[in-house]
Amino acid sequence: MSASLPTGLITALQSARNVAVLTGAGVSAESGIPTFRDAQSGLWAKYSPEELASPAAFRRNPRLVWEWYAMRRAAVLAAQPNPGHVALAQLEQLVPHFTLITQNVDGLHARAGSRALIELHGNITKVRCSVEGTFCSTWAEGEELPPPCPTCGAPLRPHVVWFGEQLPLDALQQAWIAAEECEVFLSIGTSGLVEPAASLPRVAYSHGATVAVLNLDVNTRSEARLFYLHGRSGEVLPQLVERLMEEQQ
Ligand code: OAD
Repeated sequence: MSASLPTGLITALQSARNVAVLTGAGVSAESGIPTFRDAQSGLWAKYSPEELASPAAFRRNPRLVWEWYAMRRAAVLAAQPNPGHVALAQLEQLVPHFTLITQNVDGLHARAGSRALIELHGNITKVRCSVEGTFCSTWAEGEELPPPCPTCGAPLRPHVVWFGEQLPLDALQQAWIAAEECEVFLSIGTSGLVEPAASLPRVAYSHGATVAVLNLDVNTRSEARLFYLHGRSGEVLPQLVERLMEEQQ
């Protein structure tokens, strides 16, 4: 079943005490989560991404931005983690030191049971005050949209990183340290085009880690310490974890 998994990668994972993983939109594809651009269909197609997801857009038309995120939040909450998310939560249990860095805002890794998790771009299911930054766990989708912060009355906003905003510095620093210190780095379901996350596999490789890239863009091939796997994360990751569990017994 797992014959296509490269032995060198299995061996590296078996001996690794420190593993870091970067995930992107591809990991959630099998949960039916549309990418930002795919979600921009129908009524939303006429807006540019910056008109829906930037500080300027929120200042100009906060109701529009709120409604865009309310629509996407509902889609995410109706979706379920897939076997790829579950396998990554299991992998965390097999490795002494594990860090999962995700660019996804859907919160599905946490729902699958991942705990050592860095959500670089935030989490669309969470809402915070646009002025004070305090999280708000309940709000009403009533007349006033965005709903007001219960403490100060300022508009609430989604807890995501918008175009033109900096990534949270502490999350970025933790991700960088994880890439520098790991022995194996897995880059899964990400095209590796959006910085700074795109640099993380290179940081890991240049610090001596074994690096594996799994997505639908690459051809399966390997060089020393570098493995490219063409496949679906919801199929390959459960095979990988199953193989590691077999070898542990
Ligand atoms: P992309 O949409 O750029 O890339 C998705 C990657 O997932 C591609 O490499 C696909 O081959 C791969 N893929 C698709 N289905 C897969 C599957 N079932 N299993 C494994 N891989 C699969 O997404 P990201 O790299 O995450 O920002 O993009 C990073 C950021 O850029 C996102 O956070 C997003 C985007 O613009 C915003 O939405 C603001």
